[in-house]
Amino acid sequence: MQAYYAERAREYEAVYAKPERQADLAAIKAWLPAQFAGRHVLEVATGTGYWTPAAAAQAASWLATDINPETLAVAQAKTMPASVSVQLADAYTLDGVPDTFDAAFIGCWWSHIPLRRLPDWLATLHSKLQHGARVVHLDNQFVQASSTPISRQDDEGNTYQTRQLSDGRQFEVLKNFPTAEQAIALAGPRARNAQWTDFHHYWVLSYELAPQD
Ligand SMILES: C[S@@+](CC[C@H](N)C(=O)[O-])C[C@H]1O[C@@H](n2cnc3c(N)ncnc32)[C@H](O)[C@@H]1O
Repeated sequence: MQAYYAERAREYEAVYAKPERQADLAAIKAWLPAQFAGRHVLEVATGTGYWTPAAAAQAASWLATDINPETLAVAQAKTMPASVSVQLADAYTLDGVPDTFDAAFIGCWWSHIPLRRLPDWLATLHSKLQHGARVVHLDNQFVQASSTPISRQDDEGNTYQTRQLSDGRQFEVLKNFPTAEQAIALAGPRARNAQWTDFHHYWVLSYELAPQD
């Protein structure tokens, strides 16, 4: 996964040029800024920062993290709001990332997490957030004729796609497509006022983080 996205960094955003996705992308980009207005936001798996300029527009501060310097370099070459800074970080540990945020944004990362790792990953994410923090997960819906077909499913229920870079190299990539019920259940009892929004090509799960019992 890490190697695939390092190799794909320069051509990554071609996926956002698909004509059939433009209406969803515009609607989501219009919705995002108000979610983070005045907040101190942690972004995980930022990639090339496709969402960051819009999402961070009204934020007080925004830390964009990713494991790959290659993808973060593309993000850093963009015009970003002054509130945005970047840091290399592994999403699974978030080592070196402060625990003072009152919001989090995670785009197209949930789908790449093996199902058995999701509970621990969510606990790690939540450990970096204050009570009452606003959390927004955004990811892909599976849409026939637009999404890359599913090539196989493993014994644990994870699904995979075979993806090809422009130079012909192929990578098998884990890509899951949760239902609203599955995602809300995984977010757990601390996810207060959980809201699932079904865009045609994307889903958004947002909630406020309640204190731990
Ligand atoms: C599908 S991209 C999502 C990028 C961006 N958030 C978006 O929505 O367009 C997934 C990103 O996860 C990053 N990644 C892969 N493994 C990671 C890890 N263990 N920790 C943090 N980022 C990781 C890749 O470098 C890549 O930038």
